[in-house]
Amino acid sequence: MSELMGVYNRAPVEVVRGEGVWLHAADGTAYLDCVAGIATNALGHCHPGLVAALTEQAGKLWHVSNIFRIPGQEALAHRLVTNSFADVVFFGNSGSEAVECALKTARRYHAHHGAPERIDVIGFAGSFHGRTYAAVNASGNAAYLDGFGPRLPGYVQLSVDDWAGIEAALRAPTAAAVIIEPVQGEGGARAMTREWLQALRQLCDETGTLLIYDEVQCGMGRTGKLFAHQWFEGAAPDIMAVAKALGGGFPVGACLASAKAAEGMNVGAHGSTFGGNPLAMAVGAAAFDLLADPALMAHVAKVGTQLAEGLRALVARYPDVAVDVRGKGLLLGVKLVTNNRDMMATARQHQLLVAGGGENCIRLLPPLVISEAEVAEALVRLEAAFATTRAQLNKAA
Ligand SMILES: Cc1ncc(COP(=O)(O)O)c(C=O)c1O
Repeated sequence: MSELMGVYNRAPVEVVRGEGVWLHAADGTAYLDCVAGIATNALGHCHPGLVAALTEQAGKLWHVSNIFRIPGQEALAHRLVTNSFADVVFFGNSGSEAVECALKTARRYHAHHGAPERIDVIGFAGSFHGRTYAAVNASGNAAYLDGFGPRLPGYVQLSVDDWAGIEAALRAPTAAAVIIEPVQGEGGARAMTREWLQALRQLCDETGTLLIYDEVQCGMGRTGKLFAHQWFEGAAPDIMAVAKALGGGFPVGACLASAKAAEGMNVGAHGSTFGGNPLAMAVGAAAFDLLADPALMAHVAKVGTQLAEGLRALVARYPDVAVDVRGKGLLLGVKLVTNNRDMMATARQHQLLVAGGGENCIRLLPPLVISEAEVAEALVRLEAAFATTRAQLNKAA
């Protein structure tokens, strides 16, 4: 019996080394990595710039706590603020912590403005916001709530297609905030439309409800813009959670907010021991400078189109295996006819790593630095996995 808590369904791959988009297993197998630590190793594995930043900082200072000024925090916050809607940043260590801070910031805003009854957080089916109590309540996914006692008060779940319900929930006197991923990740790479996000922004303005984006997965360049919502004018949030690629593989999360939305977050309102530690900040700043490069964003848009077009062609050739391609940039999902967990295993047999996703999708979220030749190779390997699956289907028929 394993001495690890049995909460993961782990693939039987023992990775010992990573380089760029390649992962090397203990048995010598090299895998083309279209998971990237679930949209985290955006610059590939062991990017020399990040290794240099980490090792340099490791020899200087690791941790001091937020009792003291941490210049690295100020430097990374400045980068985030000057490249987004936000005025202020709180650093944590993960996506869940970034979401937690976002939700607390929203409720605290209303309390600060004399409306403590405004506690409702409106979340959506197909969303994923992490595994803390607040995060699982915000996403409302029954599988993640089961067995953990009563639902927390003030969390409302709706479908993104239920506009009448959304309007009613936001017009309620208890509405505090809406939380949405501009491109749902775990739910199966579902991108919200420009019109929907703009309408939501308008409704939030009208009702005084705060708009929270969870860009933990779709942010930091994954869609070809630094933040996914930046594809659209007039759809900026009041608060945003980011993590994953923010540290290029080093644990760090951040909650960004406008000065107004953060009005309630005064001294003592929130905190973290490790959040914003010098190591995370050094790697985060180095990752940011590489990710915010317009040339990399143009590359993501280009290879994202190449991958999406290749996947669509594949789906057209294998209608017995897959039915749809969705997502944005390099956050792509393929909705399958056959079981997605089986396809992940079959892809591994062809030395290709893909992630699972909601609605029976596989997700492809490679490092953003993946080359055109590597995208072509990923498509060849996925086609081989589809062919294996088709052969199994035919044999079973
Ligand atoms: C959109 C989104 N939000 C939040 C989280 C939680 O992040 P973490 O696992 O770092 O707590 C995730 C993780 O997959 C995510 O995809």
